[in-house]
Amino acid sequence: MPSTKLILLIICILGLWWLRSPPSPLPSQSHPTAITRRIVAVADLHGDYDHALSVLKMAGVIEESASRRTAPKWLDGSGQTVLVSTGDLVDRGDDTQLLYQLFDTLRSQAPSKEHVRNCIGNHEMMNALSDWRYVTRGDIDTFPGGVAGRRQAMSTSGWIGQTWLANYSLSHTIDLLPHEEIRQAQLRRGLTSSYLVPQANFVHGGIHPTFAEASLAKLNEIAHSLLHRALQRQAGPASASSDLFPPNTPDEERRLYSEMGPLWYRGYATDADEGRVCSTAKQARRFLAQDQPDVSVDYLVMGHTPHLEGFVHRCEPPSVHLIDTGISRAYGGAQSALVFETTLTEGKTKDEWTEERRLVALYRGRKPKVVYERTRKV
Ligand SMILES: *[C@@H]1O[C@H](CO)[C@@H](O)[C@H](O)[C@H]1NC(C)=O
Repeated sequence: MPSTKLILLIICILGLWWLRSPPSPLPSQSHPTAITRRIVAVADLHGDYDHALSVLKMAGVIEESASRRTAPKWLDGSGQTVLVSTGDLVDRGDDTQLLYQLFDTLRSQAPSKEHVRNCIGNHEMMNALSDWRYVTRGDIDTFPGGVAGRRQAMSTSGWIGQTWLANYSLSHTIDLLPHEEIRQAQLRRGLTSSYLVPQANFVHGGIHPTFAEASLAKLNEIAHSLLHRALQRQAGPASASSDLFPPNTPDEERRLYSEMGPLWYRGYATDADEGRVCSTAKQARRFLAQDQPDVSVDYLVMGHTPHLEGFVHRCEPPSVHLIDTGISRAYGGAQSALVFETTLTEGKTKDEWTEERRLVALYRGRKPKVVYERTRKV
């Protein structure tokens, strides 16, 4: 037996084995850690599926292939992207069903439900409350059974009503960096325990301090209760009653749906007094952080009041962001998405961490615009 041949054969097999096995990862302890997250926010989509796909592609949330014929595909496998909608998917356009399906599809494709967040807009609640003033004929025609079919879909026994109750909230406060990873870095990697997790609050209209005071959890609970009550009425036969609210709707639910309430409030957009807007926002941000000692709600983001040219960023540093640019054909405004990019990086020496924040405004057909940028040691 020619042993050199045998040795060569063994070398070849070992070589192939070495080529085929993936490089073994270095123990993570020796890597400088970088914690990062990208939050993409889109405002009022109002029944326009094509423009919704357009902004989600622009923001790198879904693959370019998506169209009316090709299902959307969530792009980011890393888990770093979070998509949030500030509500008003419905009314003024015909694509109600496509839009609710779109968000349900993305929610099921994303690494977790937490990666796709939907706020209720005043138009979702209007539809639940049988206020159909802004519903298009074309939209009704997309529902089997027309008006009755649409009403059924938007009830406790229908698919849209059910996804609203399960997957939509009045408001979401979202960590700009993953909370658990921050906690681990504080426990094990020398990140100072005084580091507050930065957060942004998303709501359709605006949260005035007189509402924020009650805590966000409480507001979400009141909104959910009103939504359920309204959808339950729509599960029954249509009545001739002209009352907006179902019988026995408590005062706190009526108040939530008032002009000053989070679904309708426009003060952050319409008050020209910058000082007053910023001190109101500051107060609201404090109230919104009240239940958690280790966070800081630094940004308020809302839709509802269209500015067709582009976002309005108020206060310094910018803490109030009005992001309804009238994306839908009904308005014909800028197709836009606001992106929060936040990274916390471990330095070479122990206990030294650097936080980078960037807020980027994306508009279809324009160059990305950096709204705010900050780098600091923490
Ligand atoms: C909530 O969203 C998930 C993921 O998209 C979906 O599968 C589920 O059906 C929704 N819940 C309801 C009750 O519709």
